[in-house]
Amino acid sequence: MQLFIDSADVTELRAAAASGLIDGVTTNPTLIARSGRKMKDAIAEICSIIPGPVSAEAVATDVEGMLAEGRYLARIASNVVVKLPLTENGLRATQVLSDEGIRVNVTLCFSAVQALLAAKAGAFFISPFIGRLDDKGVDGMELIHEIRQIYDNFGFSTNILSASIRSAEHVRQAALAGSDCATLPPKIFAELYKHELTDSGVAAFLKDWGATGQSIL
Ligand code: G3P
Repeated sequence: MQLFIDSADVTELRAAAASGLIDGVTTNPTLIARSGRKMKDAIAEICSIIPGPVSAEAVATDVEGMLAEGRYLARIASNVVVKLPLTENGLRATQVLSDEGIRVNVTLCFSAVQALLAAKAGAFFISPFIGRLDDKGVDGMELIHEIRQIYDNFGFSTNILSASIRSAEHVRQAALAGSDCATLPPKIFAELYKHELTDSGVAAFLKDWGATGQSIL
């Protein structure tokens, strides 16, 4: 499964990229606003840090506006993926941009039938929001299972990009459900390394090794 970082903070992104384990980045208008930077500058720098797909989201709500913004964003760098909302206009724009060879990440997906439409529109990624469904008392992970089954039933190549990830447990379950990718806040990515038995095991080995007085080199 590919792991993306959900952030527009270049300091966070450089730190995560140093792991060598990050395949891409997702941003959204909230994250760009939080960075305090101009969209073009932020996306250009992020694309230079991470060579994989970097999602940059359009904010227009009409088809022509989405097309203009999408084409503009796609010109910033070759690894930009244009992010569009799962609305009727968003899917019309998805079809046009996809036909032009621009990859589209269809976002704000909350149902399996929405995901079906996005795949039919030619989306490169579909972003189902797990945490926001959980917040509503709906099992967000069930949506990932449903989309995986539907895409496999019909051979859709759209990549499932699990979003709104709130825990390492979400990552585990998304991987088991066959999600192609997951996008994580940096804090959740850091948690993936952790297990208390790893920490106590390292401490015990070092204690025993120290008692020998040896050094390996
Ligand atoms: O970027 C889309 C998504 O990952 C946002 O997550 O935590 O704001 O629901 P969240």
